[in-house]
Amino acid sequence: MNIQDIIANKRDGKKLNTDEIKYFVEEYTKGNITDYQAAALIMAIYINGMDKEETTALTIEMAHSGDILDLSSISKNVIDKHSTGGVGDKITIILTPIIASLGIPVAKMSGRGLGFTGGTVDKLESIPGYKTEIKVEDFIEDVKKIGISVIGQTANLAPADKKIYSLRDSINCVGSMPLIASSIMSKKIAAGANKIILDVTVGSGAFMKNKKDAIQLSNLMKDIGKLANRETICVLTNMDEPVGYSIGNSLEIIEAIECLKGNIPEDIKEIITTIGSYMIKLAGKGNDLEENKVKIIENIKNGKAYNKFLELVQNQGGNIEFIKNTEKFEKAKYILPVTSKEEGYVYKLNAEKVGKISVDLGAGRLRKEDSIDKSVGIVLNKKIADKVNTGDILGFVYANNKQRGETAVEELLNAYEIVKEPVKKEEIILGII
Ligand code: URA
Repeated sequence: MNIQDIIANKRDGKKLNTDEIKYFVEEYTKGNITDYQAAALIMAIYINGMDKEETTALTIEMAHSGDILDLSSISKNVIDKHSTGGVGDKITIILTPIIASLGIPVAKMSGRGLGFTGGTVDKLESIPGYKTEIKVEDFIEDVKKIGISVIGQTANLAPADKKIYSLRDSINCVGSMPLIASSIMSKKIAAGANKIILDVTVGSGAFMKNKKDAIQLSNLMKDIGKLANRETICVLTNMDEPVGYSIGNSLEIIEAIECLKGNIPEDIKEIITTIGSYMIKLAGKGNDLEENKVKIIENIKNGKAYNKFLELVQNQGGNIEFIKNTEKFEKAKYILPVTSKEEGYVYKLNAEKVGKISVDLGAGRLRKEDSIDKSVGIVLNKKIADKVNTGDILGFVYANNKQRGETAVEELLNAYEIVKEPVKKEEIILGII
């Protein structure tokens, strides 16, 4: 068997067998297949797709490319949560300490930015000192000790995904159902939680642009979860506009901290209470979803969730003075207002465009070895259905390069569509699978 034949098979639209998939995953992980050969195969998969059998084989091989954790010593039920990606998506950072503050262990392995979407690991790393590369033994110990750990991919957990993930990012091959399903589920299987909740985003700022595709992806991931003995629930959430108001690494951390202090925008509140209520149910800590939502809000109001976040940050080496006083976060050099040239109501706010603007400002990567700028991004002032007057500020661009910032101002203005008639707010939760 050799990689050229495997590339040719997928390039020509053929189905790959399990041995071919195993060979690719093993040899690429070991470094015996080059990045350019892997890129050719990934592009062929992106274009020609994979059926369920191929996707399942790819997932299982990727999961077994490193260790598979056994978290049963922590608790009977350990919950993991993952999003298929979005713009301004800081849900993990808000929700995981809330759940942990309710006495439910959370062992969470997150990813870096992908395409036009941000990544939890990049965001958390904007807290000075916060370590995301943690030894597996310490990850387990931390969950036992404080009930929560949020880490990046360590060298020996789904290492194949780590390599393929950054490769996909740099060759623009992210939005593919088999690649997303295998990437997410291999990590979830390797990370050891027995209950998995997936936030499957739908809309302009998501990789699944419509509900039909999101349902198909959800069913695929649920089936893979079942095969691996992991109970999996998917919550379909609206990503037609960014989540909350901030986009960019430290900007999103600051917004997450505000949410944990009780200043939560409506869309974030709906997402955290819905997903959170299912997490509590999966953990066996309450079957009544409405009651679970109340528990979530209670632990924000009484400060327990915020304190758990402080504990998490401190435990992972982060400087909690930045959490206590977010003014300490380094600010971008230029904070440029974007003003409306017309009057009416926001009809659309293209989240993919907003995500790309943020990446171009430096918040994401164009090549896999690129470093990112933690302080740049966007803070929105107006979202879908909001009333706008001429001269109103739609949002602010945070830039460290004046020219890039000025281009971003023009682009952000173009991401908005304003109409004369009032606009109805869109539904946030689009389904549970
Ligand atoms: N999150 C992942 O971990 N992988 C993807 O492919 C998309 C979102």
